[in-house]
Amino acid sequence: MKTYIVGNWKLNFSVGEASIYLHKLLKALPNYRDVEVVVAPSTLALQPLSLQIDRHKMKLAAQNAFYRDYGAFTGEISFSQLRGLVDYAIVGHSERRYIFGENDKMIQKKVAAAVRNKITPILCIGETESERAFGETRDVIRDQLMGGLSEVGDDGISKVMVAYEPVWAISSTKAAKLASPDEIAEAVKLIREILTEMYGAKVAEKVPVLFGGSVNSSNAGAYLTVPGVNGLLVGGASLILSEFVDIIGVAKRVES
Ligand code: PGA
Repeated sequence: MKTYIVGNWKLNFSVGEASIYLHKLLKALPNYRDVEVVVAPSTLALQPLSLQIDRHKMKLAAQNAFYRDYGAFTGEISFSQLRGLVDYAIVGHSERRYIFGENDKMIQKKVAAAVRNKITPILCIGETESERAFGETRDVIRDQLMGGLSEVGDDGISKVMVAYEPVWAISSTKAAKLASPDEIAEAVKLIREILTEMYGAKVAEKVPVLFGGSVNSSNAGAYLTVPGVNGLLVGGASLILSEFVDIIGVAKRVES
């Protein structure tokens, strides 16, 4: 399986800044066949960047979209509008869940809409700090994974990726808040067990599972060597060109 390095730019970079960054990133990156590099700029930047990107080197992701294809939904953008523009879409990110009130029902429809429109959803799941403190991590992973995938059948699952992002480890600068490789290994093992229950072992092992939460070039190697982890979802560090390039370099070394 390839290693996936996905940069989530969140609400950062103007269209112009995004274009300059992409230009520099394309120049800095060799064509790694076994590392799939993906960037998720703001929705506004997707169209211009889609004309600029070299899809042999890198792919585009949306950070979010709405699950209906068209209609009276002021302010929304559909997966059908993104079709052909992006290869991936982040779905169910914790910032969407907890700041914008997305629930498992909406997320399951978004996952299905992405698959229907030939866009690979990166389904984000993970427990909050208090859920972790109450010992609910395994239940949360199960609920969010089964909920998110409940409209995805045997044919659709081959188009899906899962990202385990413990909410308490996102955007963390304190060492105490970093997820340990052991914790991640346990969560990823559970994710594969659930996928196996849902789709069988053969299919489950082919679903890429990423880790995200304060990933940087210093910890990327440790996270990428956790058993069952196939890539990284990188927020803050993906905004710094040298950091992101280094993380991709680490992925290349771990892979070979
Ligand atoms: P972070 O963000 O790397 O800044 O913690 C990761 C994410 O939210 O996807």
